[in-house]
Amino acid sequence: MRRTKPTDPTWSDVLQQRREASGRMHRRAMLAGAGAMAAGLGLARPAPLMARSLPNGARPSAFSTSEDPNSWEEITTYNNFYEFGLDKSDPARNAHRMTIDPWAVVIDGLVDRPGTYDLADILHGQQLEERIYRFRCVEGWSRIVPWIGFELAGLLNRIGVQPSARYVAFETLLRPEEMPGVNRRVIDWPYREGLRLDEAMHPLTIMATGILDQDLPNQNGAPLRLVVPWKYGFKSIKSIVRITLTEDQPHATWEATQPREYGFYANVNPDVDHPRWSQATERRIGDGLFARRRPTLMFNGYGEEVADLYAGMDLRRHF
Ligand code: MTE
Repeated sequence: MRRTKPTDPTWSDVLQQRREASGRMHRRAMLAGAGAMAAGLGLARPAPLMARSLPNGARPSAFSTSEDPNSWEEITTYNNFYEFGLDKSDPARNAHRMTIDPWAVVIDGLVDRPGTYDLADILHGQQLEERIYRFRCVEGWSRIVPWIGFELAGLLNRIGVQPSARYVAFETLLRPEEMPGVNRRVIDWPYREGLRLDEAMHPLTIMATGILDQDLPNQNGAPLRLVVPWKYGFKSIKSIVRITLTEDQPHATWEATQPREYGFYANVNPDVDHPRWSQATERRIGDGLFARRRPTLMFNGYGEEVADLYAGMDLRRHF
């Protein structure tokens, strides 16, 4: 994927081609289209889905999966957010302590317009979309999340990426008085992550601000978190306060903490096992204790969209 300016017509062409190639038309978009056609033909409309409105002018997206999303409860009560504790239930219990208003994000490094941007500045001019994405944690569980968000590329293009930039680094808030988990030095706080610039600019990569028709709850990374659906969940860093464009590959928390177990790329890959468990299958949250595990898909099922980003790379070495 090349880096292009927002006004460059080739960008939307590439995007359009990818959408057509993917063949994964958003179920609701299809139903909306079918509904409009049905109305013209005097057929019954799929009323419940047509009636559902998305928040803040968000649009449905052709990138959404047609799989059924998990419930609010399933998405917001079983979380990894170590700043609030190591147990899956700790974030839902403790994250309300985090102050998210006001919120500022420093955007710096190799950009034309570095600065401290508040949330309204960040959202200004960004088209919100609903992106119903598969989400696969490196631990072997998965779920379907109806995110509301905008493409990270839109924000980066607005800030102006300089030609020497090759990576994007992200940092989570570190506020010990509100985050009981950071007293334990399980990792070198703050939580940090990074992407190659072409990964960051990929249209599947979003900054999420909501789930379903709600603002992001704190335990899921309010008010602004990254979502990279073809990578293991730990790349999708929460509650972001800094975005830095760099020339060198940035520090990434899990890669730095346990380099034998977690790589910088962390692309979902059923053929490359974690040293301590297989990655061939996954447990879908909500499936029930005795349900069969599901096969894990290469790039979490987004291979048609992203495989060319890694052409020629040895994915066992760059895991
Ligand atoms: N971001 C921060 N700041 N701290 C974390 O502990 N955990 C990561 C990722 N982002 C984490 C984080 C991991 S391991 C996963 S699987 C996802 O968040 C979980 O996101 P969810 O709780 O919204 O499902």
